[in-house]
Amino acid sequence: MKKTNLLLVLAFCSGFLAIGQTKVPFIEDLLAKMTIEEKIGQLNLVTPGGGIATGSVVSSNVEEKIKAAEVGGLFGISGPEKLKIAQDFAVNETRLKIPLFFGSDIIHGYKTTFPIPLGTASSWDMDLIKKMAETAAKEATADGINWNFSPMVDVARDPRWGRIAEGAGEDPFLGSAIAKAMVHGYQGTDLTAKNTMIATIKHFALYGAAEAGRDYNSVDMSRTKMFNQYLPPYKAGIDAGAASIMTSFNDVDGIPASGNKWLLTDVLRKKWGFKGFVVSDYTSVNEMIAHGLGDLQDVSALSLKAGLDMDMVGEGFLTTLKKSLDEGRVTEEEITNACRRILEAKYKLGLFDDPYKYIDAKRPKKDILTKENKTLARDAAKRSFVLFKNHNNVLPLKKTAKIALVGPLANNKNNMLGTWAPTGDPQLSIPVLEGFKNVAPKAKITYAKGANITDDAELAKKVNVFGTRVDIDKRSSEVLLQEALDLANTSDVVVAVVGEASEMSGEAASRTDISIPTSQKKLIQALVKTGKPVVLVLMSGRPLTIEEEFNLPVGILQVWHPGIEAGNAIADVVFGDYNPSGKLTATWPRNVGQIPIYHSIKNTGRPAPTEAFEKFKSNYLDVKNTPLLPFGYGLSYSSFEYSNINLSKKEIIKGEDVTVSVTVKNTGNFDGEEVVQLYLRDVVRSITPPMRQLKGFKKVFIKKGETKKVDLVLTADDLKFYNSNLDFVAEPGDFELFIGTNSNTQLKASLTLK
Ligand code: NOJ
Repeated sequence: MKKTNLLLVLAFCSGFLAIGQTKVPFIEDLLAKMTIEEKIGQLNLVTPGGGIATGSVVSSNVEEKIKAAEVGGLFGISGPEKLKIAQDFAVNETRLKIPLFFGSDIIHGYKTTFPIPLGTASSWDMDLIKKMAETAAKEATADGINWNFSPMVDVARDPRWGRIAEGAGEDPFLGSAIAKAMVHGYQGTDLTAKNTMIATIKHFALYGAAEAGRDYNSVDMSRTKMFNQYLPPYKAGIDAGAASIMTSFNDVDGIPASGNKWLLTDVLRKKWGFKGFVVSDYTSVNEMIAHGLGDLQDVSALSLKAGLDMDMVGEGFLTTLKKSLDEGRVTEEEITNACRRILEAKYKLGLFDDPYKYIDAKRPKKDILTKENKTLARDAAKRSFVLFKNHNNVLPLKKTAKIALVGPLANNKNNMLGTWAPTGDPQLSIPVLEGFKNVAPKAKITYAKGANITDDAELAKKVNVFGTRVDIDKRSSEVLLQEALDLANTSDVVVAVVGEASEMSGEAASRTDISIPTSQKKLIQALVKTGKPVVLVLMSGRPLTIEEEFNLPVGILQVWHPGIEAGNAIADVVFGDYNPSGKLTATWPRNVGQIPIYHSIKNTGRPAPTEAFEKFKSNYLDVKNTPLLPFGYGLSYSSFEYSNINLSKKEIIKGEDVTVSVTVKNTGNFDGEEVVQLYLRDVVRSITPPMRQLKGFKKVFIKKGETKKVDLVLTADDLKFYNSNLDFVAEPGDFELFIGTNSNTQLKASLTLK
């Protein structure tokens, strides 16, 4: 029996619990043999370049450092051949032969790129999301990667922030469910299996609340808001068993997350019992110098003492911790503890048994970009689309129609994958034009670009850092427009594929104006003026301000950035092979001035009773309080009618669950899926309650004409919140429950907690 297995059996027989809850004898033996330099070496995470560098530095002399036992893991490289070479350096050329682990950002699929996470969240389909994570893990491990820097679970309520694309949106309840599904998908039930990998919850904490939506910006928030609204998804990921967590760039209450002891030790380890390891973000330790916390030695010591275990790229740990130890600024125990957590993670993966277990030259061909994986990508994409409006039931289109397919994103491979898809190949993606031809071979489809994504060359340059995303045409905008109008005028219907380039969202891609770029606005207006029926297929990595377009007589299908199967999936929905079922997970504002905007707002002491302006009420002079599109919103080709909200009990005592049921009838002409949503309002409590909080959802398939009774369970914990002492409590009193098709639903029942 191999040594790890033997140890596990011994551990089991002698009543040891899982790794992390008790010390692992094998790791303790190893630690006893290690010099302080070797321990510090394990805390160093480097990237040799080749992937996407998300900071201004890339590691140097990687080979020498591995051989000198100065590296714990690598990220940003992949493929059995390359990783074997790196592992050989670690295993054959260092004294203790400690294997490396290999990390990567597999944010929405590995080579089979799925829709951006904000899109997949809109499916509200946890089985689907788990399956995508499982598939991503299968593909990535086939290429030698065993540690994923995902899921990103930052609650985001500010669509100016480009990274809203990478997460699940604004809601902590939905975000928690998604965090759990993704962790389970990546890690499976057995981390030693060859097709599972370590999941990393990121970015701890509150990164999504960056002030003014500017990336990396400061965050300052009350603790009750943190615990009730922003921290739940991180905790859910930890509770689901995530083996690692990544700190965020921002400061929290004046201390950058990577050096924030309250966050990393008091909350994460003591309150939540996290047993895995904490990795910094890319040079986030070094960045504490710019934050104003001291020099590299100061911030590295501060981070270690705060509870950070691994330093990504910055090498502050590598270059200063020994000195800090000699000067008594950190202890050997602190270094050993961090090292232990890294070694335990490698042990969990089974790397001490077989450092080459993920390195198998046969796997990439067998597991990556398979037909099955692409089918999943297509399915995920069509389920992520959200139908915003369907003027005159313009959708679905007939498969024999004469269609003018126009717009800068209509025949474009470079923007289908979305942000943070460095492992995907844009050239493998299916553009919309190709998808239309695949799905509707009998349709008469003509294509014209119609406009540039933007005419702003400066913006284009900023967006094109990873390759051409915005390609400014040599032809004038008048020529481009006329070409599209000519096609429109001779067609039955116009489909305009418009929106953001993929790198107009994502990291360091914040915008203060989140409208559709002017070049495309002009195209849309001109197309509508032709009098032809118009469908807008809208791509974006964030909620946009589209009030003007929304008020036009058009159909609008929001498709995010749909991934490798983009064109096929869009065609599936446009031609009615799939009835759209996505629902928004982030509110769409009317204008930027409404931001931050989200459904779980509080009432204020002076709520505005209607949408009309009233003096001395909480409202604006120039815009309504309501968003353009609320959280949970999304139409179907069918329609659903809700009735008969019922509670299993109208009064409960603490600790009891209650079942909320509702009747949903498909009253339209299409079979379809509906996401039934349950919201709670705590009428009176010791801290001001949100007007509504999502507390349950279920996606159900209902045939046309059919009626279904849908049950949702409200658990005892769903009535709880963190009070001003940060105790998680349910307070007796009345609750209102709302059930329906989006967060504006009025179908209501009352519940009393005795
Ligand atoms: C910086 C990003 O914030 C983080 O999400 C990512 O995992 C690292 N770079 C590594 O690429």
